[in-house]
Amino acid sequence: MLEALTAPGLTTGQAPFVEEARHRGELYITQPYELYSEENHEAWRRLYGRMQPRWEQYANDHFLAGIEKLHLPPDRVPRLSDVNRRLQPLTGFQTKPVSGYVPAFLFFDCLHRREFPTTVTIRPPDRMDYLPEPDIFHDVAGHVPMHTEKAFADVLVRFGDCAHTAVEMTRDVPDTHERDRRIISIIRALSRFFWFTVEFGLMKGPRGICAYGSGLLSSYGELQHAIKSPEVQRYPLQLEWVINQGAEIDHYQPLLFIVDSFEHLFDQVGRLEQWMRQGKLNHVAPGLPEISEGDLQSFLSAAEQ
Ligand SMILES: [Fe+2]
Repeated sequence: MLEALTAPGLTTGQAPFVEEARHRGELYITQPYELYSEENHEAWRRLYGRMQPRWEQYANDHFLAGIEKLHLPPDRVPRLSDVNRRLQPLTGFQTKPVSGYVPAFLFFDCLHRREFPTTVTIRPPDRMDYLPEPDIFHDVAGHVPMHTEKAFADVLVRFGDCAHTAVEMTRDVPDTHERDRRIISIIRALSRFFWFTVEFGLMKGPRGICAYGSGLLSSYGELQHAIKSPEVQRYPLQLEWVINQGAEIDHYQPLLFIVDSFEHLFDQVGRLEQWMRQGKLNHVAPGLPEISEGDLQSFLSAAEQ
């Protein structure tokens, strides 16, 4: 108990263990569980406790089943080793603790290998409602329950495959300026697709429209807003729209897309890859998200291997 009271904490933006690893260039880390402070556990407890009734109302059934299968503790930050022990036999997925932002190719390649880059820090108590960067509540309570579902796990793997196709499609473009421009356009298309499905997707369900996107499932306010508010436009997923639609991160989403099922989503990822092979992702509409130099370099490095 004394240790917990005096632990330095793993709070977003105030976690020396994680920041030092990042400065040393270590992307993949361990979850130093003993460093969580009581305040960190309290943050998890509050986040989890208030989400539970909203999940029951608005989450898709696969997510609710996933929460059961994982036995996530309601009162303490979960140990990733416990999560993995229950998750791995179901779909082969594992959480993989990271020190910060994972450049695009590496992120997609982790999915391809059934690994999910997972943040270990948790938001501070005065920012329960909104945090632009992921934290362990978003990653483990928002994403990981979906990874217990085979059809959804297969979507992520298929999506990860697309990053390899992107490397294959761009590595031999002789003009390096044109090559980089195409890679950036493809990353933008993939990121938008990921955003409007895995992060903010809605799905038809027996109880009506429900959420499967983790950005919604980890947000107390936005989950209800996404399903109920007349301010939100909800349309069937259209690939040509999604890849050209700017993704804004700093407010509730005004536009969301609905899939029929995870089999439907899987087919759409297949179409996305086909469009990439046909060159249709080489000129998507400019705009958000910004693609960083690190994202571009991650694809260029993969092409050299
Ligand atoms: Fe996320």
